[in-house]
Amino acid sequence: MVQISAEGIRDAAAALRNGALVAFPTETVYGLGANAADSRAVAAIFQAKGRPRFNPLIVHVATREAAAALGHLTEAGTRLAEAFWPGPLTLVLQKRDGCPVADLATAGLDTVAVRVPAHPAAQALLQAAEVPIAAPSANRSGHVSPTTAQHVAADFATAGGGGIAMILDGGTTTIGLESTVVDATGVDPVVLRLGAVAREDIARVLGRPVALATGEQGKPASPGMLARHYAPAARLRLNATDVREDEALLAFGHTNVPAHAGIMLNLSWSGDLVEAAANLFSALRTLDAALEASGAKAIAVMPIPEQGLGEAINDRLRRAARPA
Ligand code: TXA
Ligand code: MG
Repeated sequence: MVQISAEGIRDAAAALRNGALVAFPTETVYGLGANAADSRAVAAIFQAKGRPRFNPLIVHVATREAAAALGHLTEAGTRLAEAFWPGPLTLVLQKRDGCPVADLATAGLDTVAVRVPAHPAAQALLQAAEVPIAAPSANRSGHVSPTTAQHVAADFATAGGGGIAMILDGGTTTIGLESTVVDATGVDPVVLRLGAVAREDIARVLGRPVALATGEQGKPASPGMLARHYAPAARLRLNATDVREDEALLAFGHTNVPAHAGIMLNLSWSGDLVEAAANLFSALRTLDAALEASGAKAIAVMPIPEQGLGEAINDRLRRAARPA
């Protein structure tokens, strides 16, 4: 645990740039941060949290300008950003071409969730890091969000520290409730997750009522489940131990199975699940595009062990394999 100081911030920023995980305070809850442009570092977040699935993460930046460099701010999005940033609001934006955020951080979506936090330590860290920081709440999967550095340390202690390089101790967070997540990709923004900014206040800024997204059959959706899922166009055949005539291959671990369509990507030659997670979404996208060009019909996916990050990888592959 490191107290907030110029030196502490500098060390934390350097650690983030080098691909390490740093827990840091925001005014809502503590975040578990990684360089959002580094897919291995983002995979380490999921590994540390023990999340059984990959959901898209919030990307934190220091300024509205830095946010606008990652995603398109619509007119309504700009008004919300002006009113509530820096602060406890997250805006889901259409990703810009050339947006450096790793596919794993957005779970393969073409949108990106961006937040400019107000906490002075978070601001100092983001300015010093000079890279966008992906950060979910700094708790193990299924546990409550942490509002003190001690909560973070205690929660990850049982997981051997979770591979977290540093916890910046900024005391107790003032809000203690997560940011409000608003989909600002369309003309009419929609609240995806209720949080620290009240829906009435968003409506007041927009000058019109704002809808709260609901799940299937009109039931309120559970937080975190609202993001649409990235779905490849290609058909996936899971746990494949051979490759058929018209199939490309998504391999895992050392293999000499030839892909008949001549198209093969390996998630990790060494069988490393963190590396495989880091490569998953970009591999699916690449194979999808290659299939279209080659006339191959499907992707054979080799078995991935159901342990560690393999559970989340298999969860995502099963969803991708289901017809839309
Ligand atoms: O206060 C907070 O928001 C904290 C601090 C650390 O910033 N972060 C946080 O992150 O709560 P997390 O990962 O626990 O929640 C992220 C939420 C999820 O509900 C997720 O589905 C949504 O943001 N989200 C992220 N990217 C999205 C996207 N592209 N489209 C729709 N929803 C998205
Ligand atoms: Mg959370």
